[in-house]
Amino acid sequence: MTEAPAGQRDAVVIDGLHVVRRGRDVLPGLSCTVPEGAVTGLLGPSGSGKSTLMRAVVGVQRVAGGRVEVLGEPAGSPSLRDRVGYMTQSPSVYGGITVADNLRFFSRVLGCSADEVDRVLSLVDLDRYAGTPVDHLSGGERSRVSLAIALLGSPRLLVLDEPTVGLDPVLRVRLWDLFARLAEDGTALLVSSHVMDEAQRCDGLLLLRDGALLATDTPAGLLSRTGTTDVEAAFLALVAEAQR
Ligand SMILES: Nc1ncnc2c1ncn2[C@@H]1O[C@H](COP(=O)(O)OP(=O)(O)OP(=O)(O)O)[C@@H](O)[C@H]1O
Ligand SMILES: [Mg+2]
Repeated sequence: MTEAPAGQRDAVVIDGLHVVRRGRDVLPGLSCTVPEGAVTGLLGPSGSGKSTLMRAVVGVQRVAGGRVEVLGEPAGSPSLRDRVGYMTQSPSVYGGITVADNLRFFSRVLGCSADEVDRVLSLVDLDRYAGTPVDHLSGGERSRVSLAIALLGSPRLLVLDEPTVGLDPVLRVRLWDLFARLAEDGTALLVSSHVMDEAQRCDGLLLLRDGALLATDTPAGLLSRTGTTDVEAAFLALVAEAQR
């Protein structure tokens, strides 16, 4: 049998995912897929469960039930370590050392070549800060160091939790361009945001509310289905529809 081209295979398959946090069903039973070769936007208001879902995909979330499969393996399998890049919502980088030393450290952990450090720094536009201690960076710059770490070794799946928060519009556009290029090369990207207008840059959308999916669609499909002109209005229309 011939393999389906990139873009048609699913990098992530989630079936009936149930997560309980502090005694509350944060994700009561969620099912969805994330295809390769595409940018999938995970959108939803604060507290809707975006970070929890991403944590389950990278295998750091205690799960009460359901199945999360990543690149054909159970989420969190050791063999996935260098095939999945994860950018947490709060940058997880070492403050006291330089940007380049952070990247060198993580590239050694992942076993990638030293050239990777320069490559990812340039992708996130931080070349000039290579020698700067992370503590001296702004919040947005620090989060880009975190993004650079996620890009090390060109993982097949990138799970990026609010990667564009705190960035100016120019940089934001550049990062979305980067995500699109990575998707063209076959990478699967799952990118969360609570900024609904970023949805337009995604190939597919997962609209989350209170731990449940309100919709899974393309941006255009969502707008035409709800008769709206922007994703924020579409979201509100779907909420109203669900309450009827
Ligand atoms: N460390 C934690 N311990 C217990 N409950 C948590 C923890 N972190 C989040 N929660 C709860 O899980 C629910 C979903 O949180 P989550 O962080 O997944 O939302 P989110 O959609 O990522 O929100 P945001 O847009 O603010 O980042 C919230 O009700 C939150 O209170
Ligand atoms: Mg979050």
